[in-house]
Amino acid sequence: MGELSGSRGVGPRAPQETSEEAFLSLGDLEEAASRKVAPAFWNYVQGGAAEEITLRDNRAAFHRRTLRPRVLVDVTELDPTTTILGNAVRAPYFVCPTAYHGSIHPDAEMGTARAASAAGILAAFSTLSSASLEEIAAAAPAGPRWFQLYLQPEFSATRRLVERAVGAGYSAIVLTVDLPVLANRDRQAHGGFALAAWPPLGNGADISAPARGFGTLEDHFTLRPDTGVGWEIIDRLRALSDLPIVVKGILTADDASRAVEHGARAVIVSNHGGRQLDGAPASLDALPEVVAAVGSRAEVYLDGGVRRGSDIVMALGLGARAVGIGRPILWGLGAEGERGVRRVLSLLMTDLLTTMALTGRRRISEIDASVLGPMRPT
Ligand code: FNR
Ligand code: LAC
Repeated sequence: MGELSGSRGVGPRAPQETSEEAFLSLGDLEEAASRKVAPAFWNYVQGGAAEEITLRDNRAAFHRRTLRPRVLVDVTELDPTTTILGNAVRAPYFVCPTAYHGSIHPDAEMGTARAASAAGILAAFSTLSSASLEEIAAAAPAGPRWFQLYLQPEFSATRRLVERAVGAGYSAIVLTVDLPVLANRDRQAHGGFALAAWPPLGNGADISAPARGFGTLEDHFTLRPDTGVGWEIIDRLRALSDLPIVVKGILTADDASRAVEHGARAVIVSNHGGRQLDGAPASLDALPEVVAAVGSRAEVYLDGGVRRGSDIVMALGLGARAVGIGRPILWGLGAEGERGVRRVLSLLMTDLLTTMALTGRRRISEIDASVLGPMRPT
């Protein structure tokens, strides 16, 4: 059963299952992808760490909150545009970095990049992409796009990745810090996940050998060096280029403050989609303390469980400047490649505009704490 399966109606399904019209919600794309993506890989995509408590809580946290409607506001003109670290975007959501798009669909990261760029949406691409970061950039030159960095065993390889990202026109480095080791992922393990059987990674010799196909994802991260890395890594990375550093995987005020003291321009409140520390808080619940600690000094984004326009408005009401979308992008890619990602982004846009109208907010700057009501009674 899919994460969003409860959201679909009952009754006969539309006859043309692959037409855009058949995909009325993200849950429909999730279901289509679940039938097309190889089972071992699907378990990797959908699964989380251990008992998946944090994975489930990312969604439940949105269910615990309420929104306050505001009526009789003229909502004939709605403007969802904003900026994310200076990048002008058509909506306050972005594509999270996720690994191995080529294992989901032959359009790979190029399809994701084209779909995001056509929609005017910022997209971040993983170090562990199936295509090279240069191929991704060439597929959608207008971007905007960020490069997500996993530190490599040799700092010289890390440096080359950053230099390549600069050369290919990426506008920020997203340093992911919540994966010093790979978590136990029961669902992934039971699903028979083995990286060795997968298509090669795109970023070539700058990625450590195990991840290039000579081992498993576990090998790659077991051999990684950043178990021994501290906050000074942000200073070292800043010295490599003028690109702003975004630190991804922050859940506490303390860590957010340290990141900003070391020069991070933004932080992403994230528990890696419930894939790392099981028992960590839902990212929505961690957001307020991070906003309180650094919100005046850095941009704060959130990812984890964002599936609806109402989720986006709740996160913005709690102080996020933007939110990241992880698995739903992969559902779109798995369902229909680039076209499916376009569909995901357009469904989110429609849903966001609807929620803005129903909460009486004509532009993003009008979404503030007053949009939130009390916690839902349990
Ligand atoms: C991820 N995520 C991730 N993050 C990152 O910094 N680098 C990466 O390579 C990956 N790879 C990856 C693969 C897959 C299959 C998933 C599902 C996730 C985490 C991702 O960026 C993001 O934090 C979460 O996916 C957000 O949660 P939702 O939207 O999936 O609930
Ligand atoms: C994951 C790593 C690759 O979550 O980020 O699977």
